[in-house]
Amino acid sequence: MSTSENSADTLLSVRDVKTYFFQDEGTVKAVDGASFDVKKGKTLGIVGESGCGKSVTTQSILRLVEKPGRIVHGEIFLRKEGGEEIDLVKLAPNGPEMRAIRGGEIGLVFQEPMTSFSPVHTIGGQITEAIMLHKNVDKKEARKIGIEALRSVGIPKPERRIDEYSFELSGGLRQRAMISVALSCSPRLLIADEPTTALDVTTQAQILDLLRRLQNENGMAIMLITHNLGVVAEMADDVVVMYLGRVVEEGPVDDIFHNPLHPYTKALLESIPSIDSQPRVKLPTISGAIPHPYNRPAGCPFHPRCASRIEGRCDAGEPRLAASGDRQKVSCFLYDSEGRKE
Ligand SMILES: Nc1ncnc2c1ncn2[C@@H]1O[C@H](COP(=O)(O)OP(=O)(O)OP(=O)(O)O)[C@@H](O)[C@H]1O
Ligand SMILES: [Mg+2]
Repeated sequence: MSTSENSADTLLSVRDVKTYFFQDEGTVKAVDGASFDVKKGKTLGIVGESGCGKSVTTQSILRLVEKPGRIVHGEIFLRKEGGEEIDLVKLAPNGPEMRAIRGGEIGLVFQEPMTSFSPVHTIGGQITEAIMLHKNVDKKEARKIGIEALRSVGIPKPERRIDEYSFELSGGLRQRAMISVALSCSPRLLIADEPTTALDVTTQAQILDLLRRLQNENGMAIMLITHNLGVVAEMADDVVVMYLGRVVEEGPVDDIFHNPLHPYTKALLESIPSIDSQPRVKLPTISGAIPHPYNRPAGCPFHPRCASRIEGRCDAGEPRLAASGDRQKVSCFLYDSEGRKE
């Protein structure tokens, strides 16, 4: 079922995905035409202010969008081990194929490990369950794999820890345990949604080191979602900048940091928090408020906050994400199709 023209090094291709929440008060266009690629074995950083649709994008990929939400448009191609591509949007969210992909080919780590582990089951019970769901092994073998998985993420005395409850672990160890669950089935893509936001700076650095080491060892791709541009600079090969459910700029990390094109990317970079700022602090706000999701502005969604807007143009038409030079893509009327300023 090969239906896209993706290059062989593309593992996941998100194409014009729209995910809306249909509520009585109005429709929240949480993701509104997002497109980007995740390359095999590389780290893609996804950045953007709170509410821009980063988590709903990951929920869309994993087919975990909750009602009243639904993917209303687009394609999400995943290249399987043998090279064949499948469109995840076409799969039943809870069907056998999607269940095998979730936690199998795609692992998920998110911000609050406390909520991902059940308080009434031991860590081991949950790890062995995850392993048995995806691998054809008995309980004893799954436990052995689980202990090794905990050891590989740097949890000391894993043969003892495996019988503890998540609340007995520190935040850092809990996050390591969640990573080990996500990795126990050798995913080819790890989606990490704010994996270190709840941790102190030192633990945060350790978890990022761990992710880097695991990626070097097993060659998985990582989709890293974070508010912290410092983390992106350190970890990502490529960066996607989202604004109000859309990608406004995309490119290699060096280009995004040294030659940002979109006025929103420029504003984000000017607001980089210093290394010792509080990890829970969100990005300092860029002037002007993010529009309410029910009332998206006409034209370019960023134009009401944009210092470089062109009256009569940016408030009228919607710019499209297009190549600008060889390496970057940008969605902005300030750039013509060759990527030069008009
Ligand atoms: N279950 C839901 N029902 C209705 N609206 C939702 C739901 N989940 C998310 N949204 C809305 O979709 C938009 C995108 O939310 P999302 O959680 O993806 O943002 P985010 O970029 O992950 O933000 P943050 O950085 O704070 O995690 C927001 O306006 C949010 O209020
Ligand atoms: Mg989020």
